[in-house]
Amino acid sequence: MAAEGSKPVRIGLLGRGTVGGAFAELVESRADAVEAATGRRPEISGVLTRSEGDFGAILERSDLIVELIGGTDPARQYAIDAMRAGRPLVTANKQLLAQHGDELFGIARESGVQLRFEAAVAGVIPIVRTIQESFGATEIDKVFGIVNGTTNFILSEMASTGAGYDEVLGRAQELGYAEADPTDDVNGADAAAKMAILARLAFHTPITLDEVPFEGIESIQPDDLAYAKELGLSLKLLGVAERVDGGVSVRVFPCFLYPGHPLAPIEGPFNAVMVEAPEITEVTMSGPGAGGLQTASAVLGDVVSVIAGEVPVHETRERLPVVRDVASSFYLYLEVADRPGVLARIATLLGDHGISVKSFVQRGIGDDARLVMVVHQCLESRFAAAVEGLAELDDMRGPPRSIRVIEEQF
Ligand SMILES: NC(=O)c1ccc[n+]([C@@H]2O[C@H](COP(=O)([O-])OP(=O)(O)OC[C@H]3O[C@@H](n4cnc5c(N)ncnc54)[C@H](OP(=O)(O)O)[C@@H]3O)[C@@H](O)[C@H]2O)c1
Repeated sequence: MAAEGSKPVRIGLLGRGTVGGAFAELVESRADAVEAATGRRPEISGVLTRSEGDFGAILERSDLIVELIGGTDPARQYAIDAMRAGRPLVTANKQLLAQHGDELFGIARESGVQLRFEAAVAGVIPIVRTIQESFGATEIDKVFGIVNGTTNFILSEMASTGAGYDEVLGRAQELGYAEADPTDDVNGADAAAKMAILARLAFHTPITLDEVPFEGIESIQPDDLAYAKELGLSLKLLGVAERVDGGVSVRVFPCFLYPGHPLAPIEGPFNAVMVEAPEITEVTMSGPGAGGLQTASAVLGDVVSVIAGEVPVHETRERLPVVRDVASSFYLYLEVADRPGVLARIATLLGDHGISVKSFVQRGIGDDARLVMVVHQCLESRFAAAVEGLAELDDMRGPPRSIRVIEEQF
């Protein structure tokens, strides 16, 4: 944004809910600090909600627009109109960017305005700025982490208390860590939208939301967490975006981690993101995953950046192929009849699919036994075929359950 002496920066605020309300207060309480950092004082020049304000009039008297409405309609149109009118745009809206990234980045480029969206991904962690600026000339191999605080809180509570998913979800709702309708958080869709954005930034390729398969945590059993503890594992909902065989793979799935992993100690409603590249080895950042004040502070950080100077507008380069079948290690839970030969039959079937067992726990319950194992890395399609074969064995007393495991040692 061009320096204009000591003229205030007029901010048009779209949405004054949880984040917008906190942002309006922060603009007032931190106006001196913003002025000291940038030479210009911020002020809210107009507010649009469902019951107040007129977008056209707000646009007219604003130097930049902050969109905190959420969703894509009417947020998308306001974002387009603002940028086409030459106003930089700051937003916390992951859906907007995950679904309409190509269009919005294109308009920002054509209009020569900044589009900032730090608060849309991984809460307060400055991962967007880090990828775009600090690692702007780095060939990133992999970005991954815990990008949904709700699910991290639920999994941490299930592991520490032994309580079931439904009970812990209720507690998360009481504490304000989960929304009344938690569907998009717990089924992985929210994390998928964030990973689509991170993958686009890290690999300069136009990944869209429908190219990000996601699995959630709804069917995780307290048993899985208890057995995993015996194997020294902790469970997280991970988003992973990585280069694979000349293409990219972007996915969200629940996943066990070994104790030395930098993401293993991240508990409660926190987020953490790791970036890997040959020249940086690996960088990990963690922080609160959401919250009105926390998100508003990330939005204000973007406003400071917009006022302070230009940043290259995000550009996509080549479209990289999306790789669907990647290699993973797995935790496998089997309930089987406790009779002679069952272990040999299971080992043979796994061996026939080229799958080898890394660690193993057995517990008897009456005539049945529970077998819990971690298998070494193999192609996911191969593992799925083996699980299908196991499910058909007469020895099975229930459907096999499997969860991915990150084997990487740190
Ligand atoms: N809450 C968090 O912790 C968090 C964290 C990260 C990112 N975000 C993102 O931040 C954004 C805002 O979230 P929030 O939690 O602050 O939402 P919210 O509390 O529901 O507030 C939404 C605001 O937008 C206004 N609004 C809704 N539809 C509108 C329309 N058609 N026209 C004009 N105004 C409209 C609402 O107006 P009324 O006041 O009239 O209802 C309200 O002021 C979302 O994109 C969200 O994903 C939130």
